[in-house]
Parts: sequence; structure tokens; C-alpha cells
Amino acid sequence: MNSVNLLVQSEPAATCAPDLAQGPWDFDTVPGYGPGASLGDVAPPSAPRQGALPAEYRESSDDELRARITAAREALGSRVVVLGHFYQRDEIVAHADFLGDSFQLANAAQTVPDAEAIVFCGVHFMAETADVLAKPGQAVILPNLAAGCSMADMADIDSVEDAWAQLEALYGTEPDADGRVPVIPVTYMNSAADLKAFCGRHGGIVCTSSNAETVLEWAFERAQRVLFFPDQHLGRNTAKKMGVPIERMPMWNPRKPLGGSTGDDLLDARVILWHGFCSVHKRFTVDQIDRARAAHPGVRVIVHPECPMPVVDAADEAGSTDYIRKAVAGATEPTTFAIGTEINMVNRLAAEFPQHTIFCLDPVVCPCSTMYRIHPGYLAWVLEELVAGRTVNQVTVPDDVAADARVALERMLAARPKPTPTTAGPETKGAVR
Ligand code: 13P
Ligand code: SF4
Repeated sequence: MNSVNLLVQSEPAATCAPDLAQGPWDFDTVPGYGPGASLGDVAPPSAPRQGALPAEYRESSDDELRARITAAREALGSRVVVLGHFYQRDEIVAHADFLGDSFQLANAAQTVPDAEAIVFCGVHFMAETADVLAKPGQAVILPNLAAGCSMADMADIDSVEDAWAQLEALYGTEPDADGRVPVIPVTYMNSAADLKAFCGRHGGIVCTSSNAETVLEWAFERAQRVLFFPDQHLGRNTAKKMGVPIERMPMWNPRKPLGGSTGDDLLDARVILWHGFCSVHKRFTVDQIDRARAAHPGVRVIVHPECPMPVVDAADEAGSTDYIRKAVAGATEPTTFAIGTEINMVNRLAAEFPQHTIFCLDPVVCPCSTMYRIHPGYLAWVLEELVAGRTVNQVTVPDDVAADARVALERMLAARPKPTPTTAGPETKGAVR
């Protein structure tokens, strides 16, 4: 039994949907994100759906699936590379050739050897990115097409084009005396490929949580202000750390004229924050941090920068999933860590580093609904189809979109994450396993 099932069984249903104990195929075919932290978010009608998984995979035991995946991988050899994000279930991580954060996985997709297929165990925007960066002819496969991201779905190309037109009408397009354009678009990696392409077309860039500061520096050299989408919290936390006052970060709500801000606020803005958020990280609170400090004097609190600003301010450190892992791996003395990120990763860190006491800030936090949809049944299916000479669940970004998205992604890959005291530690994460 995995840790999430344990969590579900030990907590009342109100805290986390009990349906998590079911296979994702029980809810993949219905609209929505399924049980987990984003259960209440509204999935757009265009969100990819997953067709029915053959019964032999739905009905196999964990041990049978593990054996089938291992056998398929042996049969395929170097024809396939499996990439996995840190939030994946342990049963998936066990089969990954490379495990990393979203920056590292984008980099890996570009540099993997000449495998015919990259099986991406993560979410849809990550697979799209891999397809844009992979070598020509390499197929990128997402084992479950319903593994989206509710935050990524909070910005769509029509809303961003509309916002851009309103901002251009307000600012014009003339650079200032220093040659900086009025506004530059920055999209978080957690966005659809057409939004990355939008950034490529408009002189903008993609960021991840690990290089957001480097990316904003890059953008401020070229522009008077930034339109940052879709995650308001990453944008706010990063800009605040760089000294941008909160009052110069108006919000853009795509359902309101001028995003719900005044023209004056937008003229004074340094960063315009899209009204998007992650339902996993939104659950963390300052109260949880206060309780952790009271119960564990000396606790080291580390959160992901997708958490709301008061939570990041109250924590000791904030950083990407790779930062969090390196912080734990680099601690030389037994330490108590309270971590504000997805439960699968926190549980894995706790098992991997028994010399430390590691717990999730929110003891009843739900997993990311969509990361959790990559089940071993789907992984076994896509691999066995490859063995049989069939490619299923390929994620393909159209050529014209990919060309513009690649421009913004290449800029992102050149904007390296800043070294920190903890990331300077042993290179234990993101390493080829
Ligand atoms: P990382 O870039 O830190 O891996 O984060 C990706 C993500 O989706 C976090 O919710
Ligand atoms: Fe998206 Fe949040 Fe899940 Fe990350 S944790 S993939 S931002 S829903």
C-alpha cells in the first residue's frame, strides 16, 4: 500500500477525497481534475481526456504491474527513456531513468540520448515542453492524457491575447530612453505550449520555480514591467524577494476589464500578476508553520514558492522541488524539517533520509490530483504498446507553435537557477539514476 492510501484511510473524508484509493481510470473519462487537491477547480472543456485503459491493466496487482513494466523496459532497452517528476508516486519513481524538477526535466528532454521515445511521468505541460525540446522524430508519451495541471489551465491563449491588447493600448509599444519596451510576457513553465509560443513571439521567456529570479532579472533588463502568468504566488514571491514593492504588483483578473486594476496602477506596475494559483500549495498556512514551530522548536521550515506570500515570508526558506531536496540532502546534522509541498515528495524524502525528522506542514494535505493520475497501470500499457510497435498517448505540439515556444524555452534554459548555500551541496537530485 502506498503512502497516499495510508493518508486517505487515516483521515476523515472531508480532508481528502477517499476516491484516491481507486484507480484513476474510475474517474479519468469524466470532466474535471479528479480526487486530490484540485478537485474543486474548474477544468476547461478542452482539457485532454484519457480513453479507457484495457481491463488487463486495471485488474493487475501492484506486483504484476511492476513485473510487466520491468519486462517491457528490458525489451525496449535504450529505445526508451523514462523521465519522472519529484511529485510522482513511488511506484512510478522506481522506473524513472531521470528524476527531477521541471527545469531539470526540460533540460533532460533536450539532452537525452537518441531514444525513440521519451515516456514522461509528470503532467501535460511538461510533456509538451519535452516535445518542443526533444530531437526530431522522438515521440513524447504521457502515460495518462488526463494528467493536466489546474494552475496551467487558469490562463489560456485567448485571455492572454486579450490582456496583451489592453496593455498595449495603455502603454503603447515605444521603448523608453534605456531601450526597455513597456511590458514583456513571462510565463511559468506550468502553462500550455501556445502560451510559451506567445512569449517567444513577443520577446518574452519561460521561467520555472528554480530560475524565476534569474528570469525576472533578464526581463527587467529588457522591459519596464512584466506580465507574469499564470501563478500569482510565484510571481509575487520572486518579485518581492528582488525588492519590488507589493503595491507595484497589481493583479490581472482575466474576467474583468483592465484585469480589475486601474490604469494608474497598471502604469505604475513592475509586475502584473495573473490571477492563477496552485490548489496544492494554496492549502499551506502561516498557522501550520506556527504550530510546527511550537511543537518542534528549531524546526527548519521550507516551502515551495507557489505557496501564498505570508507562508513564504513565515518559512525559513522557499525553493523549487529540487531546492527542497538538496536542502534536506545537504543537512549534515540530524534536523527536523517541516515541508510545504506535495505529499508524495515529502513522504519520499522522509523515507530516504531517516536521520532527519521530515513531515508535511499540512498533515492532511491532498496529493496533486493530476500528478497522481500517472498510475503504474498506464505506464505498463504505454510501454507494452511500444514493445508491440504501437505508440499511444503521444503528445505533439504543432510545428508553428513549437517553433515560437522553443525560442522562449531556450531563453529559459540559458537562465540558470541561482546557486544557493543549499544547492551548492551534493548533486543528489536530478542526477541520472
Ligand atoms: P518544480 O519546478 O519545483 O518541479 O515545480 C513544478 C510544479 O508543478 C510544482 O507544483
Ligand atoms: Fe499543477 Fe499544482 Fe499539481 Fe504542480 S502541484 S502540477 S502547479 S496542480
